[in-house]
Order: sequence, then structure tokens, then C-alpha cells
Amino acid sequence: MTEVTDAVGPAGRPSGPAARYDELIQPRRVHGSLYTSPEIFADELQQIWYRTWVYVGHVSEIAEPNDYVRKSIGPQDVIMTRTADGEVHLLLNRCAHRGNLVCEADAGNSSSFRCPYHGWTYRNNGDMLGYPFHQGYGGRNKLELGLGRVPRVGVYQGFVFGSFAEDGPTLEQHLGEAKGEIDRLVRLAPEGEIELSAGFLKHRARANWKLLAENETDGYHPQFVHASIFSVAESGIGALYGEKSTAVTRALGNGHSENDLRPEFRRLGVPLGWFGTTEEKVPNYVKAMRDRHGDSGAEEVLIEGAPHVMIFPNLFIAEIQLFAIQPLAADLTVQHVTAVQFKSAPEMNKRMLQQCVGSVGPAGMLLADDTEMYERNQAGVAELRPEWLDVRRGVDREEIDERGLTIGGATDETGMRGFWSHYKHLMTEGRVR
Ligand code: FES
Ligand SMILES: [Fe+2]
Repeated sequence: MTEVTDAVGPAGRPSGPAARYDELIQPRRVHGSLYTSPEIFADELQQIWYRTWVYVGHVSEIAEPNDYVRKSIGPQDVIMTRTADGEVHLLLNRCAHRGNLVCEADAGNSSSFRCPYHGWTYRNNGDMLGYPFHQGYGGRNKLELGLGRVPRVGVYQGFVFGSFAEDGPTLEQHLGEAKGEIDRLVRLAPEGEIELSAGFLKHRARANWKLLAENETDGYHPQFVHASIFSVAESGIGALYGEKSTAVTRALGNGHSENDLRPEFRRLGVPLGWFGTTEEKVPNYVKAMRDRHGDSGAEEVLIEGAPHVMIFPNLFIAEIQLFAIQPLAADLTVQHVTAVQFKSAPEMNKRMLQQCVGSVGPAGMLLADDTEMYERNQAGVAELRPEWLDVRRGVDREEIDERGLTIGGATDETGMRGFWSHYKHLMTEGRVR
């Protein structure tokens, strides 16, 4: 583990890593070095990415026995597999012999992996299967080596998470209030299941991962950064993020946050208005939803729409799009994006895919707008003066809602402050002051 500072400071002041993060992260501002320091990035890998629960993939990506897909936890290459008995495993893509990558393909179907270097083979649950020229090891079945495994794997509503920590909070505890937002998404699928079957695009940003995570529920920027796409698409989305909007920003705890647009959608009262379409355009979908939820239940679900939620540290569900944030260096991040698809809802799926391509596809405008901002931010933060970034917007008008969660106005930095408070907790927990 990289030590950020020595534990013993001048004049008896506490100056261990915990004290340092206390200083760098304050209620109304955060220090610029948090986005640029390679030492802090290395520390984050240990304290956050290789410790807390991280979103990896979705069970629909490995639907059949022996399916596998290559994923990641931070910079680590992880193979998500389904064994013949249906179990989901997260394996490290590293041969136990000399460390070669055992899996080259992005996805496939196989009950085993064979390392190309010296031909060692492994079952898709990580166990060793065999090695050539076994006399060199004293015979068959002499080695007890297997692929590394992510110690804890958790699945919620088909979303697969992994934690490198052997123990700690359960996935359900980690997700906490964010579970309800995943439930909201899944509830919009006529059979209660989503599928990530549309393929992923990877967008590289020369920026720190936290700039992306903070931006995901920043309701202050859309009207400025996305003005062009809102006007071209004649979208009403921009108005949801304004001074007069009744939408709220909510810190969900554990670093999760959301823009809750339901107050606005309820006020407008238009089924599928959140998606910019009408019931007439997707009649089979609407019928299936009525069959499942009843007329008034379906009405409510279709008016309230999908969540806009950032699940710490790396899963962002933006209504009909799903983003996984992958940090590679202090100033390099990849966003993996795909369109959400509902099981057995072809009319909606086509539209969701089209909207996704328009907003975050190779020529999509939304993500291009945001990425430009991440990179400009990173370039600016790299300048040393002034040292601090301001996150105080709305701090004096926050309220506690009926669930005991902190809420702010549609454009307030409430979610960002929730992110930083949890970040500081993870970076300082159990460490020398
Ligand atoms: S490094 Fe994999 S078999 Fe040698
Ligand atoms: Fe944006």
C-alpha cells in the first residue's frame, strides 16, 4: 500500500493518511490534488476499488452455462463466468504459473481457460485443470494452483458486484437506499428483468474518475453543457434542471446519489413523458405493463420513469443508459456504456438503443459534451493555483426528507457532498491519524 505521508508529523500534529484526507476533504471544498496525485490514486485502489463493492456486470451477459465475459474492477482484468451449475464467479485474468493473461476474447462460451504461454488450463470456476509435461512437477495433480478469485461476489436484481475484501459490509448493506433505484429500473421491464445485450462502447477520458462520478448527478451543468443537444432534440430535459424545478438531488448514503425527477414527472402526469415518447408508439409494451401492474399501477410506473442514480463508486444508471466507470490512472478513465434493454419488450428496446446511440454513441452529443468538460476540468485542476474546488452549492438550504436522507434542489451539489463524505470515510477508516 502506498503511504501518502509519514505517520509522524511536525510539532506533534497528527499527519497520517487519515489526517491528510481530513484536511483535503472539507464540507464545502475539496483539494485539487485529489484529482491529480498518483499517490492518492494508488491509495484509492487499496482503500476503495480493492475493498468496497464494485459493480462488475450483469447476469444477462452470461446467460447460458459456461458463458464468460471480460470485465474489470478498477484497472484489474476480471473474467465473469457462469459455470455449468449456474454459479457466477469473478476470476482474475492471470495465469498462476507466470502471470500471463489466460483469457483473450471479450466474451465467449467455454468450460475452461487455457493459458497460451505453457498451456496450463483452468476450470471456469478458477480451479486448476492440468499442466503439460507433468513429470517436471512430480506427476499429475501435484499443483494446488488456481486462478485468483474475487473473494466476494454479490448479485442484486441481476447486477453483479465484487469485493476484494474478505469481509465487511454485505452487498445489501453497501447498496442501502440505492437498492430502491435499481428496483425502479427493473420495475419498468414487463417481466421484471433487464438485459445488457446491446454491446458496450468504451469512451476514454483524460480525467480523474471522480470528476465523472461527481458529474453524473450534478444537476447544475445540463442546461449549459448540453444546451445544443437539448435544443436540437427539442427536449424538455433541460428544464428539469433549473431554479424552478421541483426535482431534488438526494444523497442516498454510502456515496450513492440521485437526481430524483419524479416530482416534475408527476406534476406533468404524462405516461412515458420521461422517455419522450407516448403510449400509442409502444402499445404492446404498455399492454404488458398493464397486465403486470394493473391499470393504475402501470400508470404510476410509466409516469415516474427510470432512475438517474450514481451507485458508488462506478455504476451510473442514467434512465435508459448504463455506465460503468473504470479508473486506469489518476488522469485516465474509461466509461463503458450500453443501452438498457428490457426482457421481452422489443418496441421499447429499439427506442432505448436509438436514444442511447444518439446520446452516448460514437457521434452522440451528450457524452461528448460531458467528456469535453471532464478533460477541461482535469487540465484546469492540474494548475496549482487556486488549490481548491468548490462544492458548497445549496449547502445551506439542504433538508432531511421523510426517509432521513439529505436532499437539495435540482441544481445543488448535495450528491457530490454525499460522495465525498463516503470517500473520506473509506480513505480514513481504521488508519493512523
Ligand atoms: S504463464 Fe501460463 S502457463 Fe506459463
Ligand atoms: Fe452531462
